[in-house]
Amino acid sequence: MKQDDFLGKATDPKLYDHLNWGNTMSDNSNWHKFLVRSIEPLIPSLQNKEVLDIGSGTGSMYPFFILKGAKSVIGVEPSEQQIKFSSQNHPKFLVKQSTFENYNTSTKFDIIFSLFVSEHILDIEKFFKKAHDLLTDRGSLFFTITDASYEKTPRFNYNIEVHEIEPFLSIVKTNRSAGTMFDIVRPVEYVQKIAEKVGLKIKEHQEIKPDKQYLEDEPRYKELPEKTIAHLIHFTK
Ligand SMILES: C[S@@+](CC[C@H](N)C(=O)[O-])C[C@H]1O[C@@H](n2cnc3c(N)ncnc32)[C@H](O)[C@@H]1O
Repeated sequence: MKQDDFLGKATDPKLYDHLNWGNTMSDNSNWHKFLVRSIEPLIPSLQNKEVLDIGSGTGSMYPFFILKGAKSVIGVEPSEQQIKFSSQNHPKFLVKQSTFENYNTSTKFDIIFSLFVSEHILDIEKFFKKAHDLLTDRGSLFFTITDASYEKTPRFNYNIEVHEIEPFLSIVKTNRSAGTMFDIVRPVEYVQKIAEKVGLKIKEHQEIKPDKQYLEDEPRYKELPEKTIAHLIHFTK
């Protein structure tokens, strides 16, 4: 496979149509519960807030947004299979089938979530600019990104291939039980700089590491107990 093909795979809007991701990322999965535990302390009340969930996947975050009081939640998701899971599990969740890049709307959002989606976005500056412009004046973007060093670390008997494409951009191919995943991996400091360039301000940055509960639920993570898996960044306008 050529380097361009790896990039093409990572940014293919249909990538998740070929994965058995529904169970891995469902509301009941250990991963989802861990994600909610990890981000909840930084998420304010969503009372009366209009929320956009970029790359809403199986819709697993929808119940959390509703529990937090969101007035409305709209998802944007390109994968037909992900949308199928989402509408089966959460029929009230309105999801527009589109990439974020092609999503057209005149609505402004109080809160935008982008959780583990930037791994599939080629032009990250355009992505941040669009998110910035879709936010209300006092709006917030909650953004997660997988840690670059974690992604490249051999673990769990996964077969991992790393392709360095540019100084701040690699593609990591990982064979998992759910299928073969291709992710764009960038250093978090680089991504933060790009966001700041388009006018987003960093309010908080939290490293996401396995907690005690996750180590119990997924003992394989004991191989890497102190490793930062991902980063949650709270941006404001
Ligand atoms: C790792 S999953 C994360 C799903 C969900 N945000 C979560 O945290 O459970 C990444 C999702 O982003 C979607 N995606 C990929 N490319 C996208 C794009 N260009 N715009 C919006 N979503 C995209 C995928 O189809 C997939 O559902």
